Amino acid sequence: MKFFVDSADIAEIRDLSAAGLVDGVTTNPSLVAKTGRKFFDVLADICAAVDGPVSAEVAATDFDTMLEEGRQLAALAKNIAVKVPLTRDGLKTCRTLAQSGTKVNVTLCFSANQAILAAKAGAAFISPFIGRLDDVGEDGMELIRDIRTIYDNYDSFTTEILVASIRHPRHVTEAAKIGADVCTVPPDVLRKLAHHPLTDRGLEAFLADWKKTGQTILNR
Ligand code: E4P
Repeated sequence: MKFFVDSADIAEIRDLSAAGLVDGVTTNPSLVAKTGRKFFDVLADICAAVDGPVSAEVAATDFDTMLEEGRQLAALAKNIAVKVPLTRDGLKTCRTLAQSGTKVNVTLCFSANQAILAAKAGAAFISPFIGRLDDVGEDGMELIRDIRTIYDNYDSFTTEILVASIRHPRHVTEAAKIGADVCTVPPDVLRKLAHHPLTDRGLEAFLADWKKTGQTILNR
């Protein structure tokens, strides 16, 4: 399973990337707005820091403008994946960009049928938002299960399932059990994945016992 970091904060991305935890990045207009920086500057920094796909979302909603925005975003760096919303114009944009060799991430997916349409439109990634489904009393992970089953039924569907709107480590475990291709994880959740209280307690005890031996490993 690949880990993307769901952030537009270059300091966070560099830090996690140095720890080898980042296979790609997803941004969205809300995450970019939080940085207070210019969109293209943010993207240039992220694309230079990360080798894998960096999702950059269009801001228009009509086909012609979305396509032009998508082309300009794609021209910025070879690892840009253009993000389009799951609307009819978005799917049309996806098909056109995909045909010209641009990776497209179709975002704001909330149903299995939407995921089928994205695959048929040639999306490189489909982003089902599981946390937002959980928020309204639905089961986000059930959607991931359905999409996995459907995509596995058809060799022609090569779209990767990019689990988005992740809220906690359990979401990552469940997505991995289902066989999702990618989880895009907020930095705080990504850091939590390494943490377990028994690891902390165990380490504390080992270090206390080691101290009693009076030995050092370096400078023997
Ligand atoms: C994914 O590409 C989105 O940026 C993100 O996962 C949305 O998450 P949210 O529901 O926490 O805003």
